[in-house]
Amino acid sequence: MTLPTPKPGILKIEPYKQGKYATAAGARCIKLSSNENPYGPSPKALEAYRQASAELHRYPDGSCAALREAIAEVHGLYPDKIVCGAGSDELLGLLIHAYAGPGDEVLFPEHAFLMYKIYTLSSGATPIEAPEKNLRADVDSLLAKVTDKTKLVLLANPNNPTGSYLTDTELQRLRDGLPPHVILAIDAAYAECVIAEDCPDGSRLAGSAENTVMMRTFSKVYGLPALRLGWMYGPAAIIDVMNRARSPFNVSSVAQITGIAAVRDTAYTAEQRRLNGTQRDSLTDEVSALGWHVYPSEGNFILVDFQTADTAAAMNAHLLARGIYVRDVKAYKLPQCLRITVGTPEENAAVLEAMAEFMAQAA
Ligand SMILES: Cc1ncc(COP(=O)(O)O)c(C=O)c1O
Repeated sequence: MTLPTPKPGILKIEPYKQGKYATAAGARCIKLSSNENPYGPSPKALEAYRQASAELHRYPDGSCAALREAIAEVHGLYPDKIVCGAGSDELLGLLIHAYAGPGDEVLFPEHAFLMYKIYTLSSGATPIEAPEKNLRADVDSLLAKVTDKTKLVLLANPNNPTGSYLTDTELQRLRDGLPPHVILAIDAAYAECVIAEDCPDGSRLAGSAENTVMMRTFSKVYGLPALRLGWMYGPAAIIDVMNRARSPFNVSSVAQITGIAAVRDTAYTAEQRRLNGTQRDSLTDEVSALGWHVYPSEGNFILVDFQTADTAAAMNAHLLARGIYVRDVKAYKLPQCLRITVGTPEENAAVLEAMAEFMAQAA
């Protein structure tokens, strides 16, 4: 008897493990494992969410017209060049599946977001990783890996979990060095956290090139990961392909209505950017003062290097025992590191206290 067999590539996938979140009832839990906004969404978005329940018996607008209008207005973009999705994850998967398949290659930096590899494998294409320099994507090493099979280059700017980024000049050099038929997908999931003036979100390139897209999410600074909402901006031909490939009602009306209020509350977004930046700086300074190397980050997380995998695992166990959940990044080939989401001042203080305690015990 011949049993059902999945397409080649599927069984090579190591399933994505989300940040630890379950806790014993009543136990203290400080969740810094999934790069969420500890303050949650804008009160205006929450109010819109409550009101959205009035229309649950109707299908959503499959084209997300009002949401695309709002995004376009706030960001100074064209609504027709936007497609919305159930998280930027969905859009990333659709893009890879639409443009790459068996025999094709999808290229990304060696410490890239794990979903890049997962979607590449599920499309049947081959993932190709380009070495980084000091945990930063490297334009020359990416270009050196391009072959006539390359269909897409994926780059998070800034990147998760390293927090590093390419400047606009570097992104342009990457684009200029790629053949025109290769799509450059710039994943700006953390764009709303960025303070550095030379860290672009990719919208300039996505708005001007015929082969470059930018992806954004409402899961991070907007504080709405449970809703599953993201968007892509790019040339009309690619957006058309995405609209053909997506399911007709891929974004719920609740997500659309809440997303409109969230994106329009620019004062809240600015305040969250400021709060995250301040807390990220002080967390970086204080963890560094304890003697650990912290990689500079433009995201809502820091990556701490504990020098050995054993020390990182022991520190993780120590934090876990105190109800503090951070992310081990072994799957990102960084077993000596832990990624810590920037929390509230109280949460960050608890992390620092627990780390100092660990070091006192080890001394
Ligand atoms: C770089 C990067 N891209 C995309 C995503 C996925 O975001 P979403 O919740 O919109 O699917 C994440 C989430 O962690 C991320 O870190």
